[in-house]
Amino acid sequence: MTPSALPLFRFDAPADGHLTDEMKAAWDACGCLVLENFASAEACEQLKARASRMVDEFDPSGVASIFRTGDQSHKRDEYFQNSGDKVSFFFEPEAFLENGELRQAKNRSINKMGHAMHDLEPAFSAFSRSDKLANLAQDAGFAEPQLLQSMYIFKQPFIGGEVDCHQDSTFLYTDPLSCVGFWFAIEDATLENGAMFALPGAHKGPLAERFRYQGKAPNDALIMEKLADTDWNMDDLVSLEAKQGTLILLHGSLPHMSGANRSPRSRHAYTLHVIDGAAHYPADNWLRRDFAAMPMRGFRPDTAAA
Ligand code: FE2
Repeated sequence: MTPSALPLFRFDAPADGHLTDEMKAAWDACGCLVLENFASAEACEQLKARASRMVDEFDPSGVASIFRTGDQSHKRDEYFQNSGDKVSFFFEPEAFLENGELRQAKNRSINKMGHAMHDLEPAFSAFSRSDKLANLAQDAGFAEPQLLQSMYIFKQPFIGGEVDCHQDSTFLYTDPLSCVGFWFAIEDATLENGAMFALPGAHKGPLAERFRYQGKAPNDALIMEKLADTDWNMDDLVSLEAKQGTLILLHGSLPHMSGANRSPRSRHAYTLHVIDGAAHYPADNWLRRDFAAMPMRGFRPDTAAA
């Protein structure tokens, strides 16, 4: 289907989370849904305040050095590889001056936090679980949604890094493919501060790559395995500008990206990546967690420990 023939995928969020037939048709055809006013301004501000406190409490002394210098890539990789079941802090690539000092204050230097706030931080768990979200996941096609990964992305003023065009199932692969991204605008995302762009409809194509471990732990390396050629036309990219409180649903095979933020305004977003419990999660995926000790949970609030 040509991009101009696709249905509109922007709606006012349904109050109970259940998708109308029109929304379901758009989700199927486009691989994305933009649901405005899904989360309240108050809920977004509360999450933002909690994220801000977590950054304030974060002592960067042990971590900053591995991001600061070019010769610590092995330690950077290790820090990333061990972050699947933790709350880890990642600096913006442009956070440091040549002399190793931070270019901006600490709270203007963190690229993101990840990847298990939804299980470890009560405020994040509460934001991540509701009947409304459970209804939405059900209508989007999940049999047994399981919350695998969370990220709080700051897209900092002036230095917020760009994210290349990718498919989320590249990073959270299951057999069959089941990953869906739930992307919440915690602040307004505009053309100036790094809103997302996507190729609606291109989720019907193949998964281009898979990010996985080459062999077995502990002496293991992550590789990007090519799976298929794609014919993505970047001229077809559509902007997904989003006011605070908007929830954007992204199919795991939908190509999407976001530009750098050179504006004076941050662009905070919170993302959940959800897989289906009925699908197989391979042991060589980059995100490893002890599923027996820390089982994944769904969207229903009564399944939350917090
Ligand atoms: Fe993504």
